[in-house]
Amino acid sequence: MFQYKINGGKPLCGDVTISGAKNAAVAIIPAAVMADGPCRIENVPKINDVTLQLEILEELGAKIRVINATTIEIDASKIRNVRAPYDLIRKIRASYYLIGALLGKYNHAEVALPGGCDFGVRPIDQHVKGFEALGATVEIKNGIIHADAPNGLSGANVYFDVVSVGATINIMLAAARAAGQTVLENAAKEPHIVDVANFLNSLGADIKGAGTDVIKIRGVENLRGGMYSIIPDQIEAGTYMAAVAAAGGNVLIKNVIPKHLECITAKLVEMGVEIEEFDDAVRVRRYKPLERTNIKTLPYPGFPTDMQPQLTVALSLANGTSIVTEGVWSNRYRYVDELKRMGAKISVDGKVAIVEGVDHLMGAPIRACDLRAGAALVIAGLAAKGVTVVEDISHIERGYEEIVEKLTSLGADIKKIEVPDPDTMREAL
Ligand code: EPZ
Repeated sequence: MFQYKINGGKPLCGDVTISGAKNAAVAIIPAAVMADGPCRIENVPKINDVTLQLEILEELGAKIRVINATTIEIDASKIRNVRAPYDLIRKIRASYYLIGALLGKYNHAEVALPGGCDFGVRPIDQHVKGFEALGATVEIKNGIIHADAPNGLSGANVYFDVVSVGATINIMLAAARAAGQTVLENAAKEPHIVDVANFLNSLGADIKGAGTDVIKIRGVENLRGGMYSIIPDQIEAGTYMAAVAAAGGNVLIKNVIPKHLECITAKLVEMGVEIEEFDDAVRVRRYKPLERTNIKTLPYPGFPTDMQPQLTVALSLANGTSIVTEGVWSNRYRYVDELKRMGAKISVDGKVAIVEGVDHLMGAPIRACDLRAGAALVIAGLAAKGVTVVEDISHIERGYEEIVEKLTSLGADIKKIEVPDPDTMREAL
């Protein structure tokens, strides 16, 4: 069993390079199933969610070649199975993209209900609505989603009742090879949606309007193989910006698209953090005390919910009281009790957290409950006085590439330590 041990209170200084975007990669990898030839994908992040998606494709019969540390080649043109392996699928949310991809190419998919971070209820009704609009029947039996379109899919108009990243991408996948035109309305606009559309268009798809709330997809009969490079990770970059805000210091964050960070930058500037933008980098400096501000999470281009825990940690060290409103998920404050162990003053009422700034946090043993909460607790440990031990770090390694190495290169005192697993010890007794 592994933990992170952090000796906090040191400002961060130096340069860090951002990896490829997790939420683009975990969609582009299953999308490669739709191609009739090999896809070479570059800037792939070395994270556990990617490893899992590749394992799933291999189970389906795809050929995976690792070209170098961040480049893979996927040849899924001859997969023989459209029933995805239950035990792997249930470990990751983005496995549901296999439904759109397999249905889009093979008119049939059998995929277990997805796993992923626990934010309370995570329905897929908008995905089902979209697949049915394209002419598929969708049944959920024994935890498995059976989607079927024996006569093939046909283009249709789909209006999403809620702005959903997953549903927008899934129906875009299914529609890419459907007969006729599909129009998605009230679509999500996140950068990774544009990246998936650009990937499919590079294979010969005809998708227009990704990044706006109306996406038009004219189905094509074939998608060839191709080469594509994934965009930098907006949320990984935001996480390092929040780390500098909380711990102090001066860091150049390289390989970013500053436009994707605008909403994060705006909030950090309100808190008194200095941010300088370059073409593909941002410099973040924080030497003065942080100021309070209010945050409401919203779909892109609003403030990302996947940055809410990290910014809340910084606000817990600001002068004054801030109000954080979670506008996307029903239950995304499970990390707050861990922060309170470190001396934070936060009261949560449903979707609203009142964050009363304190002078400092104290190191403590804490537990990560999901990916972004885990990253936020690492930031708290970096800013805190004394030693913090973070457990259940597997959540963090699902989505952050080499976080210990990157933070160490910025002067942080963080180590990944192996500790005996109490369960195995109990069994041994
Ligand atoms: C994606 O999840 C991301 N995951 C999440 O990031 C992110 O928090 C979320 O989008 C919002 O930005 C991946 O890209 C793999 P949604 P997704 O469908 O697609 C409701 C991370 O940390 N909804 O946009 O599951 C839903 O309940 C992860 O990287 C329906 O009601 O999110 C939520 O309130 C965590 N019915 C809202 O829409 C549906 O059919 C947004 O969900 C679908 C969604």
